[in-house]
Amino acid sequence: MQTFQHPRQMREHLDALRHQGHTIALVPTMGALHEGHLQLVDEAARHGDTVLVSIFVNPTQFGPNEDFSRYPRDLESDRAKLQQRGAHLIFAPTPELMYPEGAATRVCVQHLTAHLCGPLRPGHFDGVATVVTQLFHIAGPCTAIFGQKDFQQLAVIRRLVRDLHMPVHIVAHPTVRDSDGLALSSRNAYLSTDERQRALCIPAALQQVHDAFHSGIRTPARLTQCATSHIAPRVDAVDYISLVCPDTLAPLRDDIPQHHSALLAVAVRIGTTRLIDNILLSTAPSPVFPRSAQGTKPPRPTSPC
Ligand code: PAF
Repeated sequence: MQTFQHPRQMREHLDALRHQGHTIALVPTMGALHEGHLQLVDEAARHGDTVLVSIFVNPTQFGPNEDFSRYPRDLESDRAKLQQRGAHLIFAPTPELMYPEGAATRVCVQHLTAHLCGPLRPGHFDGVATVVTQLFHIAGPCTAIFGQKDFQQLAVIRRLVRDLHMPVHIVAHPTVRDSDGLALSSRNAYLSTDERQRALCIPAALQQVHDAFHSGIRTPARLTQCATSHIAPRVDAVDYISLVCPDTLAPLRDDIPQHHSALLAVAVRIGTTRLIDNILLSTAPSPVFPRSAQGTKPPRPTSPC
């Protein structure tokens, strides 16, 4: 498993592979890899015969008061996990190689970024769209895999690819959860034992909202209140708990019509850690917690909405 640091050398290596008929499946990451990332690697292997994982903590998607400098970095441990999982190549550039002196280009996806995390993290999605565009140009993947935990990021990337006619197939992978239901995230490493315990209110609330939706409740205010009443007392700050249209990410005000779906998206702070999660509410049968890293379901919440 070779690791490349320089964008030009990475591109030349992949050009040569493509000439031999290989297809490239890309898993973009910021490292600190966990089972959720590794399942993206498994998924990538189903879509391309060369699995490339990029590891780059992208400075342009972090705000001035965010956790860029403390974001966990451990390339050696990431490399060992990827080797074990059968990835073929790693692209791990430096910020200076990705953004050389004088770099002045940003990619901006409008409208979708006006909701949820967009207003709270100004510039974040421009940073994501810019680095993903760079990665697609460097790697030329046929397919790229992203997790559904970052639902808004996934929507932004799908729109970017569609609007700029990029020849990349975007595959969404369901959120991977720990055995207690907490969505896997590199940022979970920041949580103390007590904070992690409190964070379980998020999957429990999502389960409650799922149950409420499937019992016939379709009023956005009731579904949102169901989650808020469970989450708000247990976290240090609520950035948002919103019921939105899964296509536009705009907040839903009217009752969800029959056969329509909705997304309940949550962003909270526990201690100094910001956590996000979401659940797609749809009448198509799908369990809330389909993919646990350890294969078990989380405990169900005791108090109904
Ligand atoms: O989801 C992430 O880890 C990052 O936002 C991504 C897509 C790798 C871009 O830096």
